[in-house]
Amino acid sequence: MIAVILPVLWALFQLLAHAAPCTAASFGSALPAGASIEKVASVPNGGSYGEGASDLGYPTNAQNLPAVCAVTVRVTSGTSKYRFGLFLPTAANWNSKFLAVGGYSQAGGINWPDMGQGPHYGMATLSTDTGHNSTGADLNWATPDTLLDWGYRALNGSVFLGKALTQAYYQKSITYSYWSGCSTGGRQGLKEIQISPESFDGALIGSAAWYTNHLFPWITKIATYNLPTSDPKHIDVPQFTLLAQTVQSQCDAQDGNTDNIVSSPDTCKIDLTAIQCGDPRANATNCLTAPQIQTAKNIYSDYTTSSGKFVHPGFSPSSEAQWSTFLSFGAPEDFDVRYERFWLYGNPGWNWTQYTDSVVDDSERINPGNATADKYDISAFRNRGGKVLMYHGLADGVVPTKSSGLYYNRTMAAMGTSTPQDFFRLFYVPGMQHCWFTPPEVNAPWAFGGAGQATQLLAQAGFGAGWSVPGFLGDGRYDALVALMDWVEKGTAVERVVATTWSGSGAVARQRPLCPWPERAVYKGSGSKNDAGSWNCA
Ligand SMILES: *[C@@H]1O[C@H](CO)[C@@H](O)[C@H](O)[C@H]1NC(C)=O
Ligand SMILES: *[C@@H]1O[C@H](CO)[C@@H](O)[C@H](O)[C@H]1NC(C)=O
Ligand SMILES: *[C@@H]1O[C@H](CO)[C@@H](O)[C@H](O)[C@H]1NC(C)=O
Ligand SMILES: *[C@@H]1O[C@H](CO)[C@@H](O)[C@H](O)[C@H]1NC(C)=O
Ligand SMILES: *[C@@H]1O[C@H](CO)[C@@H](O)[C@H](O)[C@H]1NC(C)=O
Ligand SMILES: *[C@@H]1O[C@H](CO)[C@@H](O)[C@H](O)[C@H]1NC(C)=O
Repeated sequence: MIAVILPVLWALFQLLAHAAPCTAASFGSALPAGASIEKVASVPNGGSYGEGASDLGYPTNAQNLPAVCAVTVRVTSGTSKYRFGLFLPTAANWNSKFLAVGGYSQAGGINWPDMGQGPHYGMATLSTDTGHNSTGADLNWATPDTLLDWGYRALNGSVFLGKALTQAYYQKSITYSYWSGCSTGGRQGLKEIQISPESFDGALIGSAAWYTNHLFPWITKIATYNLPTSDPKHIDVPQFTLLAQTVQSQCDAQDGNTDNIVSSPDTCKIDLTAIQCGDPRANATNCLTAPQIQTAKNIYSDYTTSSGKFVHPGFSPSSEAQWSTFLSFGAPEDFDVRYERFWLYGNPGWNWTQYTDSVVDDSERINPGNATADKYDISAFRNRGGKVLMYHGLADGVVPTKSSGLYYNRTMAAMGTSTPQDFFRLFYVPGMQHCWFTPPEVNAPWAFGGAGQATQLLAQAGFGAGWSVPGFLGDGRYDALVALMDWVEKGTAVERVVATTWSGSGAVARQRPLCPWPERAVYKGSGSKNDAGSWNCA
């Protein structure tokens, strides 16, 4: 009996869940002037899709896709243009939801690999190339129009049009729309909910590089602490490892649990004289001189101008293993000065030795691309029922962890609320570096469905299904994107999300809850510290 009824029901379901054919003609009527279809392709279940090496920003294709219709759209924007990609699941697999995913650094290109995660959840999924074609560290593509596209215009336009094309394809309305992005993707999501409160119902915001016009001057400023490389104060990359080990050995126990994870870096009392050359406790061939220790202290410090103006938070202790991102470059042609060279002053010869606090003033005044996401009052977004789930690794050595706390505090101040927990929660991730991963000697649980995490796990570790959290696929107790959707759609606020890490063999090694700030994970006093059940949020 079942054998007869099931295929009949299935056929009926297929009939009801109708989509237009996966051809350019299906989208034509939804396209405004200035927009055109570049490509439409059917991708079979298990297939991969992308633009390969011609996508300079994201040269790795999406892997292991469910069946999708892949669409590439081109839109004129001022004197420039931007493109976006859409993955549209089959009508039977579409859950009537829309997801837009962010990009990283200054990369130009459609982020096909991260888009690949969305259709597994059943969502129509979009990414924009942000209006240029470049690798992430390249800033030499900037014109006033391409900067505006990168800043917000390409995303805002792509989301509006992408939703229209999605609805034309399924001939059905979208019920809920979401954002997932980390780093620059975190900034993009915040900017979008600030300028266009109806774009998303929920935003998953990771390690956000939101403070663009202060973050970039700070990057140059910390480079000047450590330059020139011939100066006795200069710390070489291998010595960052010594700093990382010292912080781990001193701070780990101070947070109440000796587990290699520094869970409370900002309250740790660090004594760097223990590694100062000449100190009896220091290793004579692996030590820091007094000027080098001062450089490290400068890098941890918040940047405040000589006239006392706060510019940007410094790195938190336990981030040292990633310091080489901005601090291993030597003059002259290094990343740390590209902002001034190409975005502020149009002067390729600008030298770090010219850095003064006035760069901050120029950066505020010029505010390249209007990219800075500092319109803190998001009442319009909240009043529509919008929710923000923000996270940041405590071992982030690229975008300082404290910048998320700063954003959270400023949002509270701007909106006149001391309890924004009803719509905005911030989760710190002890031991996680920038957006994903943890140093092997720390081995902190770091995977929880954050933007790009599944892509990185598959691409770099050859592990997982390319979406969600391996072993816990689509489970909102372990996947922050699903938890966010439950918050938006069912009103179940996110009280905790369990983060996971694995041993080399792929077995779960450690799990621990991430907690909404100011709560933190507290060991219950019994049970394995590697089990999430042994911890409370308190
Ligand atoms: C991006 O630039 C590369 C190198 O110039 C080129 O090969 C590629 O076709 C470009 N891609 C797009 C989408 O324009
Ligand atoms: C964002 O896009 C919408 C829809 O096209 C438009 O109405 C709005 O003006 C745009 N916002 C900005 C700041 O450009
Ligand atoms: C001192 O540091 C050197 C270089 O890292 C290392 O080879 C040596 O084992 C260290 N000595 C001690 C006593 O830790
Ligand atoms: C920057 O200034 C330093 C110190 O004067 C000099 O050694 C270096 O060559 C300069 N770099 C460039 C790119 O001009
Ligand atoms: C940049 O942002 C400012 C302040 O919100 C606004 O007045 C200005 O019109 C924006 N410029 C562009 C080109 O969008
Ligand atoms: C945010 O505010 C809280 C409460 O006042 C404070 O403890 C915390 O240090 C602030 N965070 C940042 C990054 O300024």
